[in-house]
Amino acid sequence: MKLKKLTVFSAIQPSGKLTIGNYISVLKHWKKMQNEYKCIFCIADLHSLTSFTKENRILKKKSVLDTLALYLACGVDPKKSIIFIQSSVHEHSELNWILSCITYYKELSRMTQFKSKLTYTSKKINTGLFNYPILMASDILLYNTDKVHVGQDQKQHVELTRNLAIRFNSNYKKIFTVPDLLMYDLGSKIMSLKDPKRKMSKSDLNKKNVIFLLENPKEILKKIKSSITDSDIPPKIYFDSIKKPGISNLLIILSTLTEISIKELEKYFIGKSYIDLKKEVFNILNIHILKIQKKFFIYRKDIQFLKNISNIGSKKASKIAKKTLCQVYDSLGILRK
Ligand code: TRP
Repeated sequence: MKLKKLTVFSAIQPSGKLTIGNYISVLKHWKKMQNEYKCIFCIADLHSLTSFTKENRILKKKSVLDTLALYLACGVDPKKSIIFIQSSVHEHSELNWILSCITYYKELSRMTQFKSKLTYTSKKINTGLFNYPILMASDILLYNTDKVHVGQDQKQHVELTRNLAIRFNSNYKKIFTVPDLLMYDLGSKIMSLKDPKRKMSKSDLNKKNVIFLLENPKEILKKIKSSITDSDIPPKIYFDSIKKPGISNLLIILSTLTEISIKELEKYFIGKSYIDLKKEVFNILNIHILKIQKKFFIYRKDIQFLKNISNIGSKKASKIAKKTLCQVYDSLGILRK
């Protein structure tokens, strides 16, 4: 008997450069995941329009190709998985509208990511940011997704997606698969280096807080060296995200990349200094990053190759999305030719 593989959907916004936070919480898992699941990996370029400015318009194309090459460099295999660019499958935008008609204003106002953007951003907030989770739900629901793989900050959006699927199914017709959350607890949120109570974010204005996947090792070493620890005397290396957020963050990075448990690491670091810990973190990061960069630059040079991959991916994705959207229109009683 051959069991059908479950479908996993995941996506990353191509805005700016990807960080080790994106890598550890999401990207790093994709290579292995492809053997167990039918995987669909999307580059969410429409989502990144929420931070659209005249200046970053030209960067968009570049970022999409960078992101695609990074997916490949991290081990995503187009023969095993579907890799595609969100904007190339118009069904995402169409379902977005339909789902927005069953989403409550109150539900969106509760989203913590939106609320924190409201408090941190001084700029005018566009409604795309407010509606963002509906487009995310559309991404997920078009593909009969069984599991959605995300980092911790997206958990609430997956919960909303589930609610929308259940609501649609019970109001109209049972079309959508109600997806489960797939999250690897350890490393699902990597914190900022200088402010370890906040998430590491690619849009952080202080670049000392963030390590980018395409950054050069010298710069990375500097950033790790200057990351915030604490002033315990003598220094103590153990996991406690409340009392020791800086040390705990470094331990998480080390543990996820070496696959050595935090408990084992705590034992190893008894009597050792914070510099020792930082050195180990740099060594392992350097190994991962150099491997990724080497492959990245090979893939990134061949634009035609990247375009082919995304074309093939879009075709496969469109086929599934079209079928779902047709059923949705039918169930709503909308006549189309
Ligand atoms: N919002 C996600 C992020 O910023 C990216 C994303 C867009 C996504 N659509 C998705 C993730 C669908 C999972 C499923 O990380």
